[in-house]
Amino acid sequence: ISILPTDYTIRPLRRSDYQRGYLDVLRVLTTVGDISEEQWNQRYDWIASRNDEYYMLVICDGQDQIVGTGSLIVERKFIHSLGMVGHIEDIAVEKNQQGKKLGLRIIQALDYVAEQVGCYKSILDCSEANEGFYVKCGFKRAGLEMAHYY
Ligand code: ACO
Repeated sequence: ISILPTDYTIRPLRRSDYQRGYLDVLRVLTTVGDISEEQWNQRYDWIASRNDEYYMLVICDGQDQIVGTGSLIVERKFIHSLGMVGHIEDIAVEKNQQGKKLGLRIIQALDYVAEQVGCYKSILDCSEANEGFYVKCGFKRAGLEMAHYY
């Protein structure tokens, strides 16, 4: 298990994380848009109400600012005897905090949750540029992503 730097903590996302720079961390990943605190609260409450399906983690630094995040969404299936699949999504580490094994720690934590809740596998999509990171996290290339944008 990767060890966090001293003073850093890993924990579930909180409603108050809007104030701790959560959306700015996600901006290293993609466009986020202007999200008001009220909009945040609404979405947060919806996600929190599905607490056995959405597992969203953050890493905080010693100043209680968010420096990394990642999500696991647990899909319930009929196949594989009512199997469950973990979907790993939106992994992001603030630019000046990259390379400290925070990304690895997030994946390890999400993997642990997935296994504990009974998923038989976890899957994710990533760019070629990130393949090496996920290989170091224990993933291997499988299948091909297709997308239909609306
Ligand atoms: N290619 C190859 N190896 C890599 C890469 C990469 N792009 N990034 C990290 N690694 C290696 C590290 O060198 C390290 O190797 P080591 O154990 O031999 O020293 C190992 O992977 C673990 O690296 P971390 O320090 O844990 O990586 P970091 O904390 O920087 O997080 C991440 C990696 C999440 C990809 C980060 O760079 C980031 O936020 N990038 C921008 C957003 C992004 O692309 N997110 C992933 C989108 S895909 C998805 O969300 C499912």
